[in-house]
Amino acid sequence: MADTDKTATLTLGNESWELPVHSPTEGPDVVDIGKLYARAGVFTYDPGFTSTAACESAITYIDGDEGILLHRGYPIGQLAEKSHYLEVCYLLLYGDLPSAEQLEDFENRVTMHTMIHEQMHNFTRGFRRDAHPMAIMVGMVGAMSAFYHDSTDISDPWQREVASIRLIAKMPTIAAMAYKYSIGQPFVYPSNALDYASNFLKMCFSVPAEEYHVDPILARAMDRIFTLHADHEQNASTSTVRLASSSGANPFACIAAGIACLWGPAHGGANQACLEMLREIGSVDRIPEFIARAKDKNDPFRLMGFGHRVYKNFDPRATVMKQSADEVLELLGVENNPTLQVAKELEKQALADPYFAEKKLFPNVDFYSGIILEAMGFPTSMFTPIFALSRTVGWVAQWKEQLSDPALKIGRPRQLYTGPSMRDYVEVENR
Ligand code: SDX
Repeated sequence: MADTDKTATLTLGNESWELPVHSPTEGPDVVDIGKLYARAGVFTYDPGFTSTAACESAITYIDGDEGILLHRGYPIGQLAEKSHYLEVCYLLLYGDLPSAEQLEDFENRVTMHTMIHEQMHNFTRGFRRDAHPMAIMVGMVGAMSAFYHDSTDISDPWQREVASIRLIAKMPTIAAMAYKYSIGQPFVYPSNALDYASNFLKMCFSVPAEEYHVDPILARAMDRIFTLHADHEQNASTSTVRLASSSGANPFACIAAGIACLWGPAHGGANQACLEMLREIGSVDRIPEFIARAKDKNDPFRLMGFGHRVYKNFDPRATVMKQSADEVLELLGVENNPTLQVAKELEKQALADPYFAEKKLFPNVDFYSGIILEAMGFPTSMFTPIFALSRTVGWVAQWKEQLSDPALKIGRPRQLYTGPSMRDYVEVENR
Protein backbone atom coordinates (compact mmCIF):
# COMPACT_ATOMS: atom_id res chain seq x y z
CA MET A 1 0.00 0.00 0.00
CA ALA A 2 1.07 3.58 -0.53
CA ASP A 3 1.58 5.41 2.73
CA THR A 4 0.41 8.98 2.36
CA ASP A 5 0.79 12.11 4.44
CA LYS A 6 -3.02 12.15 4.49
CA THR A 7 -4.58 11.59 7.91
CA ALA A 8 -8.10 11.24 9.27
CA THR A 9 -9.09 13.01 12.47
CA LEU A 10 -11.29 11.27 15.02
CA THR A 11 -12.80 13.55 17.63
CA LEU A 12 -14.52 12.21 20.73
CA GLY A 13 -15.67 14.85 23.20
CA ASN A 14 -12.81 17.28 23.62
CA GLU A 15 -10.13 14.83 22.42
CA SER A 16 -8.94 14.25 18.85
CA TRP A 17 -6.66 11.68 17.27
CA GLU A 18 -4.95 11.71 13.88
CA LEU A 19 -5.21 8.35 12.10
CA PRO A 20 -2.94 7.39 9.17
CA VAL A 21 -4.52 6.93 5.74
CA HIS A 22 -3.20 4.41 3.21
CA SER A 23 -3.87 4.67 -0.54
CA PRO A 24 -4.48 1.64 -2.81
CA THR A 25 -3.60 1.03 -6.45
CA GLU A 26 -7.33 1.00 -7.17
CA GLY A 27 -10.32 1.76 -4.97
CA PRO A 28 -10.94 3.84 -1.84
CA ASP A 29 -8.34 5.03 0.67
CA VAL A 30 -8.31 3.20 4.00
CA VAL A 31 -8.14 4.74 7.46
CA ASP A 32 -5.74 2.71 9.60
CA ILE A 33 -7.36 2.12 13.02
CA GLY A 34 -4.85 -0.54 14.13
CA LYS A 35 -3.67 1.57 17.09
CA LEU A 36 -7.01 3.31 17.80
CA TYR A 37 -7.91 1.27 20.89
CA ALA A 38 -4.42 1.62 22.37
CA ARG A 39 -4.53 5.39 21.84
CA ALA A 40 -8.21 6.29 22.31
CA GLY A 41 -9.63 3.38 24.28
CA VAL A 42 -12.46 2.87 21.78
CA PHE A 43 -13.34 0.20 19.20
CA THR A 44 -14.91 0.74 15.79
CA TYR A 45 -18.15 -1.11 15.12
CA ASP A 46 -18.92 -2.71 11.74
CA PRO A 47 -20.88 -6.00 11.92
CA GLY A 48 -20.83 -7.63 8.46
CA PHE A 49 -17.72 -5.60 7.60
CA THR A 50 -19.63 -3.30 5.24
CA SER A 51 -16.95 -0.58 5.59
CA THR A 52 -13.95 -2.55 6.82
CA ALA A 53 -10.82 -3.56 4.88
CA ALA A 54 -9.61 -6.66 6.77
CA CYS A 55 -6.31 -7.04 4.90
CA GLU A 56 -4.07 -5.79 2.14
CA SER A 57 -4.19 -7.88 -1.04
CA ALA A 58 -2.86 -7.72 -4.61
CA ILE A 59 -4.89 -10.57 -6.08
CA THR A 60 -8.40 -9.40 -7.03
CA TYR A 61 -10.00 -5.99 -7.32
CA ILE A 62 -13.75 -5.29 -7.56
CA ASP A 63 -15.30 -1.95 -8.45
CA GLY A 64 -18.91 -2.49 -7.40
CA ASP A 65 -20.20 0.71 -8.98
CA GLU A 66 -18.62 0.07 -12.37
CA GLY A 67 -19.11 -3.70 -12.39
CA ILE A 68 -15.37 -4.31 -12.71
CA LEU A 69 -13.63 -7.51 -11.60
CA LEU A 70 -9.86 -7.76 -12.10
CA HIS A 71 -7.63 -10.73 -11.36
CA ARG A 72 -4.07 -9.39 -11.00
CA GLY A 73 -5.27 -6.49 -13.18
CA TYR A 74 -6.85 -8.55 -15.96
CA PRO A 75 -10.63 -8.04 -16.51
CA ILE A 76 -12.77 -11.14 -15.89
CA GLY A 77 -14.47 -10.77 -19.31
CA GLN A 78 -11.15 -11.05 -21.13
CA LEU A 79 -10.01 -13.99 -18.99
CA ALA A 80 -13.33 -15.83 -19.52
CA GLU A 81 -13.08 -15.31 -23.27
CA LYS A 82 -9.35 -15.74 -23.93
CA SER A 83 -7.86 -17.73 -21.03
CA HIS A 84 -8.72 -20.98 -19.30
CA TYR A 85 -9.05 -22.07 -15.69
CA LEU A 86 -5.57 -23.49 -15.05
CA GLU A 87 -3.97 -20.43 -16.63
CA VAL A 88 -6.14 -18.24 -14.36
CA CYS A 89 -5.01 -20.43 -11.44
CA TYR A 90 -1.39 -19.68 -12.32
CA LEU A 91 -2.21 -15.97 -12.60
CA LEU A 92 -3.90 -15.89 -9.20
CA LEU A 93 -1.18 -17.93 -7.49
CA TYR A 94 1.96 -16.39 -8.99
CA GLY A 95 0.87 -12.88 -9.99
CA ASP A 96 1.19 -12.83 -13.78
CA LEU A 97 0.25 -14.74 -16.92
CA PRO A 98 2.62 -17.68 -17.50
CA SER A 99 4.92 -18.25 -20.45
CA ALA A 100 4.11 -21.32 -22.54
CA GLU A 101 6.77 -23.30 -20.64
CA GLN A 102 5.56 -22.11 -17.24
CA LEU A 103 1.97 -23.01 -18.12
CA GLU A 104 2.96 -26.49 -19.34
CA ASP A 105 4.96 -27.12 -16.17
CA PHE A 106 2.09 -25.91 -13.96
CA GLU A 107 -0.49 -28.02 -15.78
CA ASN A 108 1.77 -31.06 -15.50
CA ARG A 109 2.23 -30.50 -11.76
CA VAL A 110 -1.54 -30.26 -11.27
CA THR A 111 -2.16 -33.32 -13.46
CA MET A 112 0.30 -35.40 -11.40
CA HIS A 113 -1.70 -34.74 -8.22
CA THR A 114 -5.28 -35.49 -9.38
CA MET A 115 -5.58 -38.89 -7.65
CA ILE A 116 -6.38 -39.05 -3.94
CA HIS A 117 -5.00 -41.50 -1.36
CA GLU A 118 -6.79 -44.82 -1.95
CA GLN A 119 -7.67 -45.01 1.75
CA MET A 120 -9.86 -41.90 1.25
CA HIS A 121 -12.18 -44.03 -0.86
CA ASN A 122 -12.95 -46.01 2.29
CA PHE A 123 -13.35 -42.75 4.26
CA THR A 124 -15.92 -41.56 1.73
CA ARG A 125 -17.86 -44.82 2.01
CA GLY A 126 -18.47 -44.02 5.67
CA PHE A 127 -21.04 -41.35 4.72
CA ARG A 128 -24.74 -42.08 4.22
CA ARG A 129 -25.57 -42.27 0.52
CA ASP A 130 -27.99 -39.35 0.92
CA ALA A 131 -25.35 -37.08 2.47
CA HIS A 132 -25.24 -33.67 0.77
CA PRO A 133 -22.11 -33.56 -1.45
CA MET A 134 -21.02 -30.41 0.39
CA ALA A 135 -20.98 -32.38 3.67
CA ILE A 136 -18.76 -34.96 1.98
CA MET A 137 -16.46 -32.26 0.55
CA VAL A 138 -16.04 -30.52 3.90
CA GLY A 139 -15.25 -33.89 5.49
CA MET A 140 -12.87 -35.10 2.80
CA VAL A 141 -10.90 -31.87 2.48
CA GLY A 142 -10.54 -31.62 6.25
CA ALA A 143 -9.46 -35.28 6.26
CA MET A 144 -6.68 -34.48 3.77
CA SER A 145 -4.86 -33.20 6.89
CA ALA A 146 -4.75 -36.85 7.98
CA PHE A 147 -3.46 -38.17 4.66
CA TYR A 148 -0.94 -35.59 3.44
CA HIS A 149 1.24 -34.98 6.50
CA ASP A 150 4.16 -33.99 4.24
CA SER A 151 2.35 -30.78 3.18
CA THR A 152 0.82 -29.46 6.39
CA ASP A 153 3.77 -27.47 7.79
CA ILE A 154 2.94 -23.88 6.80
CA SER A 155 6.41 -22.66 7.81
CA ASP A 156 7.92 -24.64 4.90
CA PRO A 157 7.50 -22.84 1.52
CA TRP A 158 7.90 -26.16 -0.33
CA GLN A 159 5.08 -27.73 1.71
CA ARG A 160 2.88 -24.68 1.11
CA GLU A 161 3.44 -25.08 -2.62
CA VAL A 162 2.70 -28.83 -2.60
CA ALA A 163 -0.46 -28.30 -0.52
CA SER A 164 -1.60 -25.63 -2.99
CA ILE A 165 -1.15 -27.92 -5.99
CA ARG A 166 -2.73 -30.87 -4.20
CA LEU A 167 -5.84 -28.86 -3.29
CA ILE A 168 -6.35 -27.49 -6.82
CA ALA A 169 -5.64 -30.89 -8.39
CA LYS A 170 -7.74 -33.05 -6.09
CA MET A 171 -10.85 -30.91 -5.65
CA PRO A 172 -12.45 -32.11 -8.93
CA THR A 173 -11.72 -35.72 -7.95
CA ILE A 174 -13.29 -35.18 -4.52
CA ALA A 175 -16.33 -33.33 -5.91
CA ALA A 176 -16.90 -36.04 -8.52
CA MET A 177 -16.58 -38.76 -5.84
CA ALA A 178 -19.15 -36.96 -3.69
CA TYR A 179 -21.51 -36.95 -6.68
CA LYS A 180 -20.91 -40.59 -7.67
CA TYR A 181 -21.38 -41.71 -4.06
CA SER A 182 -24.72 -39.90 -3.83
CA ILE A 183 -26.06 -41.67 -6.94
CA GLY A 184 -24.69 -45.10 -6.09
CA GLN A 185 -22.26 -45.29 -8.98
CA PRO A 186 -18.60 -46.36 -8.74
CA PHE A 187 -15.90 -43.73 -8.35
CA VAL A 188 -14.13 -42.85 -11.61
CA TYR A 189 -10.37 -42.29 -11.48
CA PRO A 190 -8.96 -39.14 -13.06
CA SER A 191 -7.47 -39.43 -16.53
CA ASN A 192 -4.20 -37.59 -17.07
CA ALA A 193 -4.84 -37.47 -20.80
CA LEU A 194 -7.72 -35.02 -20.30
CA ASP A 195 -7.72 -31.32 -19.54
CA TYR A 196 -8.97 -30.13 -16.17
CA ALA A 197 -12.63 -29.52 -17.08
CA SER A 198 -12.93 -32.59 -19.31
CA ASN A 199 -11.46 -34.72 -16.55
CA PHE A 200 -14.09 -33.46 -14.11
CA LEU A 201 -16.95 -34.14 -16.54
CA LYS A 202 -15.62 -37.67 -17.17
CA MET A 203 -15.25 -38.39 -13.44
CA CYS A 204 -18.85 -37.24 -12.95
CA PHE A 205 -20.65 -38.70 -15.93
CA SER A 206 -18.72 -41.74 -17.21
CA VAL A 207 -19.59 -45.29 -16.12
CA PRO A 208 -17.44 -48.43 -16.47
CA ALA A 209 -20.06 -50.01 -18.70
CA GLU A 210 -19.46 -47.82 -21.70
CA GLU A 211 -17.10 -45.42 -23.46
CA TYR A 212 -17.49 -41.75 -22.51
CA HIS A 213 -16.57 -38.91 -24.83
CA VAL A 214 -16.42 -35.39 -23.46
CA ASP A 215 -18.25 -32.83 -25.58
CA PRO A 216 -15.59 -30.12 -26.10
CA ILE A 217 -18.18 -27.35 -26.03
CA LEU A 218 -19.53 -28.56 -22.67
CA ALA A 219 -15.94 -28.84 -21.43
CA ARG A 220 -15.34 -25.24 -22.52
CA ALA A 221 -18.52 -24.12 -20.75
CA MET A 222 -17.46 -26.04 -17.61
CA ASP A 223 -14.01 -24.46 -17.72
CA ARG A 224 -15.57 -21.01 -18.09
CA ILE A 225 -17.77 -21.62 -15.02
CA PHE A 226 -14.63 -22.57 -13.07
CA THR A 227 -12.92 -19.35 -14.21
CA LEU A 228 -15.89 -17.12 -13.34
CA HIS A 229 -15.92 -18.43 -9.76
CA ALA A 230 -12.15 -18.55 -9.17
CA ASP A 231 -11.71 -15.64 -6.76
CA HIS A 232 -13.62 -12.65 -5.47
CA GLU A 233 -11.51 -10.62 -3.00
CA GLN A 234 -12.58 -10.83 0.67
CA ASN A 235 -15.96 -12.60 0.41
CA ALA A 236 -17.26 -14.54 3.41
CA SER A 237 -15.59 -17.86 2.60
CA THR A 238 -12.24 -16.29 1.70
CA SER A 239 -12.34 -14.26 4.91
CA THR A 240 -13.05 -17.54 6.74
CA VAL A 241 -9.98 -19.13 5.18
CA ARG A 242 -7.84 -16.12 6.13
CA LEU A 243 -9.12 -16.11 9.72
CA ALA A 244 -8.57 -19.88 10.09
CA SER A 245 -5.08 -19.55 8.63
CA SER A 246 -4.18 -16.68 10.99
CA SER A 247 -4.14 -19.20 13.86
CA GLY A 248 -1.56 -21.33 12.02
CA ALA A 249 -4.03 -24.07 11.09
CA ASN A 250 -2.91 -26.42 8.31
CA PRO A 251 -3.98 -25.64 4.71
CA PHE A 252 -6.50 -28.47 4.43
CA ALA A 253 -8.26 -27.40 7.65
CA CYS A 254 -8.39 -23.80 6.38
CA ILE A 255 -9.87 -24.73 3.01
CA ALA A 256 -12.38 -27.06 4.69
CA ALA A 257 -13.49 -24.05 6.75
CA GLY A 258 -13.92 -22.05 3.55
CA ILE A 259 -16.05 -24.82 2.01
CA ALA A 260 -18.24 -24.88 5.11
CA CYS A 261 -18.81 -21.11 4.92
CA LEU A 262 -19.49 -21.16 1.17
CA TRP A 263 -22.31 -23.69 1.73
CA GLY A 264 -24.67 -21.04 3.13
CA PRO A 265 -27.57 -19.92 0.86
CA ALA A 266 -26.56 -16.26 1.27
CA HIS A 267 -23.19 -17.14 -0.30
CA GLY A 268 -22.21 -20.09 -2.49
CA GLY A 269 -25.37 -22.03 -1.66
CA ALA A 270 -27.35 -19.39 -3.59
CA ASN A 271 -26.95 -21.21 -6.92
CA GLN A 272 -28.77 -24.26 -5.56
CA ALA A 273 -31.34 -22.06 -3.78
CA CYS A 274 -31.83 -20.00 -6.96
CA LEU A 275 -32.66 -22.97 -9.15
CA GLU A 276 -35.00 -24.35 -6.51
CA MET A 277 -36.68 -20.92 -6.41
CA LEU A 278 -37.04 -20.82 -10.21
CA ARG A 279 -38.59 -24.29 -10.11
CA GLU A 280 -40.99 -23.18 -7.34
CA ILE A 281 -42.02 -20.17 -9.45
CA GLY A 282 -42.60 -22.68 -12.24
CA SER A 283 -44.09 -20.36 -14.84
CA VAL A 284 -43.78 -16.74 -15.89
CA ASP A 285 -47.32 -15.93 -14.75
CA ARG A 286 -46.30 -16.57 -11.11
CA ILE A 287 -43.36 -14.14 -11.23
CA PRO A 288 -45.32 -11.11 -9.91
CA GLU A 289 -46.33 -13.14 -6.83
CA PHE A 290 -42.68 -13.88 -5.97
CA ILE A 291 -41.49 -10.36 -6.71
CA ALA A 292 -44.16 -9.09 -4.30
CA ARG A 293 -42.92 -11.52 -1.65
CA ALA A 294 -39.31 -10.39 -2.15
CA LYS A 295 -40.40 -6.79 -1.55
CA ASP A 296 -42.53 -7.63 1.50
CA LYS A 297 -40.66 -6.68 4.69
CA ASN A 298 -42.72 -9.20 6.63
CA ASP A 299 -41.75 -12.02 4.30
CA PRO A 300 -38.23 -13.46 4.76
CA PHE A 301 -38.26 -14.60 1.11
CA ARG A 302 -35.52 -13.09 -1.06
CA LEU A 303 -34.90 -13.52 -4.77
CA MET A 304 -31.99 -15.96 -4.71
CA GLY A 305 -29.29 -15.09 -7.21
CA PHE A 306 -30.13 -11.40 -6.81
CA GLY A 307 -28.17 -8.70 -5.01
CA HIS A 308 -24.59 -8.38 -3.92
CA ARG A 309 -22.71 -6.68 -1.10
CA VAL A 310 -20.24 -5.04 -3.46
CA TYR A 311 -21.72 -4.88 -6.98
CA LYS A 312 -24.24 -2.06 -7.16
CA ASN A 313 -24.87 -1.96 -10.90
CA PHE A 314 -24.17 -5.38 -12.35
CA ASP A 315 -22.07 -8.47 -11.68
CA PRO A 316 -19.73 -8.85 -14.67
CA ARG A 317 -19.64 -12.59 -14.09
CA ALA A 318 -23.42 -12.81 -14.50
CA THR A 319 -23.12 -11.10 -17.89
CA VAL A 320 -20.72 -13.78 -19.14
CA MET A 321 -22.72 -16.55 -17.45
CA LYS A 322 -25.93 -15.43 -19.20
CA GLN A 323 -24.19 -15.59 -22.61
CA SER A 324 -22.86 -19.03 -21.74
CA ALA A 325 -26.33 -20.19 -20.70
CA ASP A 326 -27.73 -19.26 -24.11
CA GLU A 327 -24.87 -21.07 -25.90
CA VAL A 328 -24.98 -24.26 -23.80
CA LEU A 329 -28.75 -24.62 -23.83
CA GLU A 330 -28.86 -24.06 -27.59
CA LEU A 331 -26.14 -26.67 -28.06
CA LEU A 332 -28.11 -29.08 -25.91
CA GLY A 333 -31.28 -28.27 -27.84
CA VAL A 334 -33.04 -27.01 -24.71
CA GLU A 335 -33.04 -23.31 -25.51
CA ASN A 336 -36.73 -23.35 -24.66
CA ASN A 337 -35.85 -24.63 -21.19
CA PRO A 338 -38.81 -23.44 -19.04
CA THR A 339 -36.50 -22.62 -16.13
CA LEU A 340 -34.40 -20.38 -18.38
CA GLN A 341 -37.53 -18.70 -19.67
CA VAL A 342 -38.67 -18.02 -16.10
CA ALA A 343 -35.19 -16.73 -15.19
CA LYS A 344 -35.03 -14.31 -18.12
CA GLU A 345 -38.55 -13.00 -17.47
CA LEU A 346 -37.88 -12.73 -13.74
CA GLU A 347 -34.73 -10.71 -14.44
CA LYS A 348 -36.65 -8.47 -16.84
CA GLN A 349 -39.53 -7.82 -14.41
CA ALA A 350 -37.28 -7.37 -11.35
CA LEU A 351 -35.00 -4.91 -13.09
CA ALA A 352 -38.06 -2.91 -14.18
CA ASP A 353 -39.32 -2.73 -10.58
CA PRO A 354 -38.39 0.41 -8.61
CA TYR A 355 -37.74 -1.64 -5.45
CA PHE A 356 -34.86 -3.54 -7.05
CA ALA A 357 -33.59 -0.45 -8.84
CA GLU A 358 -33.42 1.67 -5.69
CA LYS A 359 -31.82 -1.14 -3.67
CA LYS A 360 -29.47 -1.85 -6.58
CA LEU A 361 -30.45 -5.50 -6.81
CA PHE A 362 -29.82 -7.47 -10.01
CA PRO A 363 -28.62 -10.97 -10.99
CA ASN A 364 -25.34 -12.07 -9.49
CA VAL A 365 -23.01 -14.90 -10.50
CA ASP A 366 -25.37 -17.48 -8.99
CA PHE A 367 -28.45 -16.51 -11.00
CA TYR A 368 -27.61 -18.20 -14.30
CA SER A 369 -24.96 -20.71 -13.26
CA GLY A 370 -27.50 -23.21 -11.95
CA ILE A 371 -29.40 -23.19 -15.23
CA ILE A 372 -26.26 -24.17 -17.13
CA LEU A 373 -25.24 -26.79 -14.60
CA GLU A 374 -28.71 -28.36 -14.61
CA ALA A 375 -28.70 -28.45 -18.43
CA MET A 376 -25.30 -30.18 -18.29
CA GLY A 377 -26.82 -32.93 -16.14
CA PHE A 378 -25.80 -31.91 -12.62
CA PRO A 379 -28.34 -32.17 -9.78
CA THR A 380 -28.84 -28.97 -7.73
CA SER A 381 -26.93 -30.58 -4.85
CA MET A 382 -23.77 -30.42 -7.00
CA PHE A 383 -23.99 -26.69 -7.76
CA THR A 384 -22.23 -25.47 -4.61
CA PRO A 385 -19.58 -28.23 -4.73
CA ILE A 386 -18.73 -26.97 -8.23
CA PHE A 387 -18.52 -23.42 -6.84
CA ALA A 388 -16.21 -24.75 -4.07
CA LEU A 389 -14.08 -26.58 -6.63
CA SER A 390 -13.72 -23.37 -8.65
CA ARG A 391 -13.03 -21.14 -5.64
CA THR A 392 -10.31 -23.40 -4.21
CA VAL A 393 -7.64 -21.53 -6.19
CA GLY A 394 -8.88 -18.20 -4.82
CA TRP A 395 -8.84 -19.47 -1.26
CA VAL A 396 -5.37 -20.97 -1.77
CA ALA A 397 -3.97 -17.82 -3.40
CA GLN A 398 -5.32 -15.62 -0.60
CA TRP A 399 -4.05 -18.12 2.02
CA LYS A 400 -0.56 -18.05 0.49
CA GLU A 401 -0.60 -14.25 0.25
CA GLN A 402 -1.55 -13.89 3.91
CA LEU A 403 1.16 -16.32 5.06
CA SER A 404 3.78 -14.28 3.20
CA ASP A 405 2.74 -11.09 5.01
CA PRO A 406 5.40 -10.34 7.66
CA ALA A 407 2.79 -8.35 9.60
CA LEU A 408 0.53 -11.44 9.91
CA LYS A 409 -1.02 -11.87 13.36
CA ILE A 410 -3.95 -13.92 14.59
CA GLY A 411 -7.30 -12.38 13.68
CA ARG A 412 -9.19 -11.55 16.88
CA PRO A 413 -12.05 -9.01 16.54
CA ARG A 414 -13.48 -7.27 19.64
CA GLN A 415 -17.17 -6.57 20.36
CA LEU A 416 -19.81 -4.15 21.57
CA TYR A 417 -20.80 -5.89 24.84
CA THR A 418 -24.42 -5.38 25.89
CA GLY A 419 -24.72 -8.25 28.36
CA PRO A 420 -25.10 -7.99 32.18
CA SER A 421 -22.51 -6.07 34.21
CA MET A 422 -20.65 -8.01 36.92
CA ARG A 423 -22.95 -9.64 39.50
CA ASP A 424 -22.52 -12.20 42.32
CA TYR A 425 -23.52 -15.86 42.11
CA VAL A 426 -26.88 -16.72 43.74
CA GLU A 427 -27.36 -20.17 45.28
CA VAL A 428 -30.20 -22.12 43.77
CA GLU A 429 -32.26 -22.02 46.99
CA ASN A 430 -32.22 -18.22 46.86
CA ARG A 431 -33.26 -17.80 43.19
C1 SDX B 1 -22.07 -14.79 -3.65
O1 SDX B 1 -19.15 -11.52 -1.41
C2 SDX B 1 -19.00 -12.09 -2.53
O2 SDX B 1 -18.18 -11.71 -3.35
C3 SDX B 1 -19.86 -13.32 -2.74
C4 SDX B 1 -19.76 -13.95 -4.12
C5 SDX B 1 -18.41 -14.55 -4.38
O3 SDX B 1 -18.07 -14.71 -5.55
O4 SDX B 1 -17.76 -14.96 -3.40
O5 SDX B 1 -20.04 -12.97 -5.11
C6 SDX B 1 -20.76 -15.09 -4.27
O6 SDX B 1 -22.26 -15.12 -2.50
C7 SDX B 1 -23.10 -14.01 -4.42
C8 SDX B 1 -24.39 -13.68 -3.58
C9 SDX B 1 -25.26 -14.94 -3.58
N1 SDX B 1 -26.40 -14.78 -2.64
C10 SDX B 1 -27.66 -14.64 -3.06
O7 SDX B 1 -27.98 -14.55 -4.25
C11 SDX B 1 -28.70 -14.65 -1.94
C12 SDX B 1 -29.71 -13.51 -2.15
N2 SDX B 1 -29.02 -12.23 -1.97
C13 SDX B 1 -28.98 -11.68 -0.67
O8 SDX B 1 -29.25 -12.44 0.45
C14 SDX B 1 -28.12 -10.44 -0.50
O9 SDX B 1 -28.32 -9.65 -1.59
C15 SDX B 1 -26.64 -10.64 -0.26
C16 SDX B 1 -26.38 -11.57 0.86
C17 SDX B 1 -26.00 -11.17 -1.51
C18 SDX B 1 -26.02 -9.28 0.03
O10 SDX B 1 -26.56 -8.88 1.23
P1 SDX B 1 -26.12 -7.47 1.92
O11 SDX B 1 -25.06 -6.79 1.15
O12 SDX B 1 -25.86 -7.74 3.36
O13 SDX B 1 -27.39 -6.60 1.72
P2 SDX B 1 -28.64 -6.60 2.69
O14 SDX B 1 -28.99 -8.00 3.08
O15 SDX B 1 -28.37 -5.62 3.78
O16 SDX B 1 -29.79 -6.07 1.72
C19 SDX B 1 -29.91 -4.66 1.46
C20 SDX B 1 -31.40 -4.46 1.18
C21 SDX B 1 -32.29 -5.06 2.27
O17 SDX B 1 -33.48 -4.30 2.32
P3 SDX B 1 -33.62 -3.16 3.51
O18 SDX B 1 -33.43 -3.90 4.83
O19 SDX B 1 -32.52 -2.16 3.24
O20 SDX B 1 -35.02 -2.62 3.35
O21 SDX B 1 -31.76 -5.14 -0.04
C22 SDX B 1 -32.71 -6.18 0.27
C23 SDX B 1 -32.65 -6.43 1.75
O22 SDX B 1 -33.91 -6.87 2.24
N3 SDX B 1 -32.27 -7.34 -0.49
C24 SDX B 1 -33.08 -8.14 -1.18
C25 SDX B 1 -32.24 -9.11 -1.75
N4 SDX B 1 -30.98 -8.89 -1.40
C26 SDX B 1 -31.00 -7.79 -0.61
N5 SDX B 1 -34.43 -8.13 -1.36
C27 SDX B 1 -34.92 -9.12 -2.14
N6 SDX B 1 -34.18 -10.09 -2.74
C28 SDX B 1 -32.84 -10.12 -2.56
N7 SDX B 1 -32.10 -11.07 -3.16
